[in-house]
Amino acid sequence: METVGIALLGVGTIGSAVLRMIREERERIAERTGLFLDVRWGLARHRERVVQAGLSERAATTSIEPILADPSVQVVVEVLGGEEPAAAYMKRALEAGKHVVTANKEALSKHFAELVAAAREHQRALLFEASVGAGIPLMVSLRQLLTTNRLHRIRGIVNGTTNFILTLMAEEGVPYQEALRQAQELGYAEPDPTADVEGYDAAYKLSILASLAAGRHIRPEVVERRGITTVTPDQILDARTRGGAMKLLAEAELADETWRLRVRPVFVPASDLLAHVRLNLNAIELTGDRVGTIVLYGPGAGPSPTASAVIADVLDAVRFGPALLPNLEPAT
Ligand SMILES: NC(=O)c1ccc[n+]([C@@H]2O[C@H](COP(=O)([O-])OP(=O)(O)OC[C@H]3O[C@@H](n4cnc5c(N)ncnc54)[C@H](OP(=O)(O)O)[C@@H]3O)[C@@H](O)[C@H]2O)c1
Repeated sequence: METVGIALLGVGTIGSAVLRMIREERERIAERTGLFLDVRWGLARHRERVVQAGLSERAATTSIEPILADPSVQVVVEVLGGEEPAAAYMKRALEAGKHVVTANKEALSKHFAELVAAAREHQRALLFEASVGAGIPLMVSLRQLLTTNRLHRIRGIVNGTTNFILTLMAEEGVPYQEALRQAQELGYAEPDPTADVEGYDAAYKLSILASLAAGRHIRPEVVERRGITTVTPDQILDARTRGGAMKLLAEAELADETWRLRVRPVFVPASDLLAHVRLNLNAIELTGDRVGTIVLYGPGAGPSPTASAVIADVLDAVRFGPALLPNLEPAT
């Protein structure tokens, strides 16, 4: 049995769910994989949060340094959120010879090529299944598809919060502010909902997916982006009368050798599967030249689906190392 030393950067919603799931599933995982998961460190802004999450005083830190210096840490799990210090910590972890697993779409979409290059240079894994679609096995599917396909279209509903708001507005006639309030109450939307409702979150996710399809880092800033704050109740009612729905669609399309990336609210007719994706669910449609069009559908957020993807990545990082790294040229 091999013990895998893990450092958790962040012990918030996702970090503490990862810790809990490791505790609950450790024996079964060990039986199935021969790998015994051991969380050695937890990093947060406040040490007491780490202890509250269930780690010992000795395992709690507010500094990355002891983690980088500890040779027993093989995998660094980054679930801090935001661009910095997350991106810098991931780069330093790779340089220190650690595998990195992240659920952070913002840091990844802004530093994708640089992080992949650091992982390749140091022959370490960089895995990010939970960064888009949480527990939906999207990266693993993309990796498989891209071995034999050229993808030329990605379309999807990748932000559960806005889809929840639009569903409530359409099905219950609830005004935008009230739908947003309910999303916040249920923990779907942050107290500051800007990243979701203005389409930034969807743009980060689309940038990651399109970068993988293109084999080149496509930065989130190039996404043409419009959020849902401009959608009117009349548009929503009209869409429903026509049998379809207004949806915040993330769409990347290759035409004349150029990728065009857009996030915007659009009318989706009833004949389109995406019109039927309700509440906080996600669906991503991938079109390749050999496979045709496939759709992946499921819960795109939440502690449990996200933690299950993160833990699967930890195991793959140890088993496959840099073999699963994508081909990614720097942004031009
Ligand atoms: N929530 C979801 O459903 C979901 C789904 C998929 C992906 N994700 C991604 O997972 C990541 C984590 O999300 P979350 O919901 O778990 O966030 P969260 O609840 O806000 O937790 C963030 C954690 O990171 C720590 N932290 C933040 N900034 C830090 C800094 N500068 N230095 C040290 N520690 C810092 C916080 O420390 P304190 O506790 O001391 O404040 C907290 O423990 C994000 O990238 C998010 O996009 C989330």
